[in-house]
Amino acid sequence: MKINGKTRLFGIIGDPVDHSLSPIMHNAAFEHLGINGVYIPMQPDNLTEGVRGLRSLGFVGVSVTVPFKVAVMELLDEIDPVALKIGAVNTLIFSRKEAATPMCRGVNTDWVGSNRALAEVIRLSGSTALILGAGGAARAVGFGLVEAGAQVLVWNRSPEKGQTLAAQLDGTFVSADILPSVRADILVNTTSVGMAPHEQEMPISPELLARFSVVMDIVYVPLETRLLREARARGCQTIDGLQMLLYQGAEQFTLWTGQKAPHAVMRQALIKALTTKRTI
Ligand code: ATR
Repeated sequence: MKINGKTRLFGIIGDPVDHSLSPIMHNAAFEHLGINGVYIPMQPDNLTEGVRGLRSLGFVGVSVTVPFKVAVMELLDEIDPVALKIGAVNTLIFSRKEAATPMCRGVNTDWVGSNRALAEVIRLSGSTALILGAGGAARAVGFGLVEAGAQVLVWNRSPEKGQTLAAQLDGTFVSADILPSVRADILVNTTSVGMAPHEQEMPISPELLARFSVVMDIVYVPLETRLLREARARGCQTIDGLQMLLYQGAEQFTLWTGQKAPHAVMRQALIKALTTKRTI
């Protein structure tokens, strides 16, 4: 990579941010396509000043991760309607137009990533999906499914949070006693259950997995979680946690550069990074 006066600036803001795989994924894509761009991790000590700095320094696009996805919204000029519904922004797009100060638009590509990963294996319109969890990731997955015309069921360890999300999605809350009798086309785990070092844990009992056609996990360490292994053994199609990460990043890449993202190159870079860390 050659950095010169024409290098376009991209990056990610988060706290912490050093664990993020996004720099690896985006820089691999720039390199593969010969784009003169660089994507760097940044940890602002003050979000408002940080976003002002990004504008002033001429950044083209920036990802936003925990804990800034909600707080960043009040610093933007424009917010995409789905991001408003989800209540979180994970992507900033700066555009100069005529104004001296670039305008900053916020969008959410997490739901696009989840929909694309699922739509590769199942038609979403008219389908039914059970979401495990009701946090930030569940919101993105849930609103994405609703956008695509699916019916959503929500289970959550803390029932009140699950009930609130189910109501916002015009869906149904699934209590622990009903869970064993639920059937759906799709199951998505958005909780951290099963993540290393607790690889043996599962968010749902394995005997229930045959009730779903497709099972997606957002956990990607390990890449094949016990949930996915048990689901595959029961004939379900499975989608690993890197797919949502990959496709949300691919959507950002296209929004920022106008080019189709090199999916295979980006996924390979992610897998290499995880393998090098000996975490999958
Ligand atoms: P994220 O942005 O990754 O979704 P989050 O907003 O903190 O993170 O949400 C975490 C989700 O995982 C929540 O639904 C949480 O359940 P609670 O609302 O009951 O806290 C769920 N979760 C985390 N650890 C869990 C566990 N051990 N068992 C079941 N659910 C768990």
